[in-house]
Amino acid sequence: MALLPILEYPDARLKKVATPVLAFDDSLKKLVSDMAETMYKAPGIGLAATQVDVHKRVIVIDVSQDKSDLKVIINPQIVAASGEAVVEEGCLSVPDIYDKVRRAEKVTLKAQDTTGAFFTLDADGLLAVCIQHEMDHLQGKVFVEHLSSLKQMRVKSKLKKRARELVTN
Ligand code: NI
Repeated sequence: MALLPILEYPDARLKKVATPVLAFDDSLKKLVSDMAETMYKAPGIGLAATQVDVHKRVIVIDVSQDKSDLKVIINPQIVAASGEAVVEEGCLSVPDIYDKVRRAEKVTLKAQDTTGAFFTLDADGLLAVCIQHEMDHLQGKVFVEHLSSLKQMRVKSKLKKRARELVTN
């Protein structure tokens, strides 16, 4: 296993649209285990392959308290969505920025596992929000892009300032 570097907003590579996984082989299993290790280490509750510069439709999520519920989601499709939830989100690609985003409250997902087998997942609460957040990444979208353009400008200047401080400190 290996830790993977996480791209940070506004890196242009975060805008790439991921393509479907066609080969359910050992390299996919390695990617998934590296992504899980990277997510747990960060620590985060979700990671999309886009964030580690692999533009395939692969997501790992674990919203449990004790890191005991890893969900590997490949080629996800939302087949049903209902309700509305406004939850404060953060992102490993947008360090130290948190803001509220409007999402569906419940989603039903159809996806594949690392063997290619299809499964259906009914999600609500934090898991539903996380799934929608990670699926946005696969479309080249970061959560701050749901915010007003004024807020997005503020986020960009905060991150620039942060990057400067990291260099000088
Ligand atoms: Ni994210």
